[in-house]
Amino acid sequence: MESLINHKYLRLYCEFLGILFIVFTLLFIIARFIIYLWLKYKARQFKWRGGPHTWAVITGCTEGIGLAYAEQLAAKGYNLLLISRNDEKLQKVKSDIEVKNKSARKVRTLAIDFFDTSDETYDKIDHMLDTLDEIHVLVNNVGTNYPNEKPEYMTKIPGLTHVIMSLINVNIVSCTRLTALVLPRMERRGRGVIINLSSFSALYPFELMFSHSLRCDWSECIKYAELIRLSSRHLPAFTTYCEAVFRYVKGSETDDPSEVETAVQLLAVVPSVRVRYFGKSVSLEKSAVMRAQKFSNTNECSVLPDMVRSVI
Ligand SMILES: NC(=O)c1ccc[n+]([C@@H]2O[C@H](COP(=O)([O-])OP(=O)(O)OC[C@H]3O[C@@H](n4cnc5c(N)ncnc54)[C@H](OP(=O)(O)O)[C@@H]3O)[C@@H](O)[C@H]2O)c1
Repeated sequence: MESLINHKYLRLYCEFLGILFIVFTLLFIIARFIIYLWLKYKARQFKWRGGPHTWAVITGCTEGIGLAYAEQLAAKGYNLLLISRNDEKLQKVKSDIEVKNKSARKVRTLAIDFFDTSDETYDKIDHMLDTLDEIHVLVNNVGTNYPNEKPEYMTKIPGLTHVIMSLINVNIVSCTRLTALVLPRMERRGRGVIINLSSFSALYPFELMFSHSLRCDWSECIKYAELIRLSSRHLPAFTTYCEAVFRYVKGSETDDPSEVETAVQLLAVVPSVRVRYFGKSVSLEKSAVMRAQKFSNTNECSVLPDMVRSVI
């Protein structure tokens, strides 16, 4: 009798769990569908507003990414204010854009060295901004890097004080002060977009590891790779993969089977340490897992270090 009651309650309990599961699954599917419809039909889409009265302001625009922004925004019909260091280069960019883009309306230039953070410099920009009808886009693109674009030991950087001040003035002060000048103007109109250029590498402390790999100093690489792997919360699969590759290369070059063995063991754990945020892994994690699995699936004979080579 008692077992019958238990059986009945157990059945009820399972049915309840089953219904709960079905209800939650249905709610989840409905919610996803509503979000999909909302994003497709209702969400406020950003609209570029190139036109006779709208301006895009771009800093550091005589080369690289800034120049590409200038060309693209000109093609979208914006008037351009180009701010960069070298007036000669600015005039060349201005005339190239005017020739290439018939839709470009007005192109103005302002030669500013953002190393100089004096009030006069920013007053000059402020006065120029006063002459523009509506600023719809600000691209804070100007940026500088270490000499030779290569990270170094701080004490070994020549002209260290100048480098430090340049990184702060050009990369940080320019971005914040220009935003402070432009944002109130956008706020008054209730619209506008500010694009700040940054670097993915700022998120991860890989520099020393990759500097040593550039010099093919595998022992130093392994030292830093291991340090990073042990402290990495965000990219454990990628950092494990890097250490494995460095050990594998060192082991192969020095005929040291123990290094190769450690590398193989590390590669075997790569898939299990991968992290996901909201069910997704960042591409570095995914590709580390893919390559580690490829190594295992091809009987440990795939070409290993391609990913690390692509990063360095
Ligand atoms: N390229 C990349 O792979 C990469 C990766 C991550 C982040 N970023 C970021 O993206 C932005 C653009 O990078 P990029 O590679 O296109 O740069 P870039 O090719 O070196 O061009 C930099 C531009 O800024 C100007 N500039 C440099 N110092 C200046 C100063 N003190 N005052 C005024 N203008 C100055 C340069 O003018 P001059 O011709 O006078 O030197 C040039 O027009 C930077 O903020 C950078 O940190 C780039």
